[in-house]
Amino acid sequence: MAGLKYQAPRGTFDVLPAHARTRGRIAETAAAIFARAGYEPIATPSFEDTELFERGVGHSTDIVRKEMFTFEDKGGRSLTLRPEGTAPICRAYVEHGMHKLAQPVKLSYTGPFFRHERPQAGRYRQFHQLGIEAIGSDAPLADAEAIGLFAELVAELGIPGVELRLGSLGSLSARQTYLEELKAYLRAHEEELSKEVRERIDVNPLRAFDSDDEGTRAAMASAPTLVERLEGEDAEHFGEVRALLDAAGIEYTIDPTLVRGLDYYTRTIFSFVCDRLGAQSEIGGGGRYDGLVEQLGGPPTPAIGWAAGIERILLALEEEVATEGRDVFVVTGSQGIGKAQNALAITLVNELRRAGLSAEFDLAGRGLKGQLKHADRIGARRVLILEAEGVAQLRDMESGEQRPVDTAHLVAEIAGDRS
Ligand code: HAM
Repeated sequence: MAGLKYQAPRGTFDVLPAHARTRGRIAETAAAIFARAGYEPIATPSFEDTELFERGVGHSTDIVRKEMFTFEDKGGRSLTLRPEGTAPICRAYVEHGMHKLAQPVKLSYTGPFFRHERPQAGRYRQFHQLGIEAIGSDAPLADAEAIGLFAELVAELGIPGVELRLGSLGSLSARQTYLEELKAYLRAHEEELSKEVRERIDVNPLRAFDSDDEGTRAAMASAPTLVERLEGEDAEHFGEVRALLDAAGIEYTIDPTLVRGLDYYTRTIFSFVCDRLGAQSEIGGGGRYDGLVEQLGGPPTPAIGWAAGIERILLALEEEVATEGRDVFVVTGSQGIGKAQNALAITLVNELRRAGLSAEFDLAGRGLKGQLKHADRIGARRVLILEAEGVAQLRDMESGEQRPVDTAHLVAEIAGDRS
């Protein structure tokens, strides 16, 4: 053993029990919200053909250019640990002919995702998302519903300091016209831009809005925005989404420079940010991706969805859920009635657990005093000390009171305590 010092790989972490409980609460809350709205769970593999992400997420994105964990399998095929869930779900939608089902197909998911990013608080190389996708509807009502479900999650979890930012990228063709205008603007301001932005004017001009560079930020302050250029059906769609959010009482601010790190977005995009978080302030976001299903070989299919980062939610909640304690701790070992005690203890503990109570016993060979101390440490509300076949003392750990109980009626005795 000496000399061995294994650690979780850089940018990854172990989920220890104290956090696992909060994660459980987040997952359960989200699952209940999704189920009530008719979003059915789906799970796709942790890795996919690399090409799916190249085509789906886009060659020009940071994710595809530098953040994918890509490897070759033994047959020489290029595979990639999924950096996101939307392209895989659209792949599954096409592969399983889900366009033949009643539309839209409403799906929810959760699981691990992988991006080779520079690790920092809130940014990891393996992280977890939960999210939804509604595939097969272009109705503004679908946008408002999806955004509303995120707002519901924020409210039910009690995440403080959250703000919703809303924007629209227009349809693909409208965006093309705008992008030409933006490129011309960037070229005219080339000397004010950072090297990185300058080099990517042709590849990904929208990312200029996202730059941390001061000069770039100043230049972008008066750049034309897509929201200003929305016309016709795009403008109408965005107007309807806003009206529906207003009607539903969901607060938002329009962010005309909002951009997202994935190429598939069209029309509505949104971001939920939390002021409790540092640089990585987005707890989640998403938008419409009306061209993605077709791009992956399916029929033209409008869709919308979002994903939230579970670690970001945890950071925003800063919550350590206290242990739930135990209903009963049963003393075992050589105390009381000797060997028969363990046989009785396991029978009683099983009976209690089957009745829905939490029950434990000592597994570390502690003496009676040590067991009482341990019972206290794990938050046991009662301790059962077996005295003779069928007879035991039930001690209330809070009051210290003790009373004899008939072990044959233990469950009923404890149920009586609770009422
Ligand atoms: P995304 O914005 O790339 O969107 O990721 C969604 C969320 O995942 C982020 O807001 C953040 O909370 C979390 N996240 C992303 N990268 C990391 C990281 N390295 N460490 C920790 N958390 C991270 C998508 O992935 C889209 N698939 C969302 C979507 C669904 N759009 C439409 N449908």
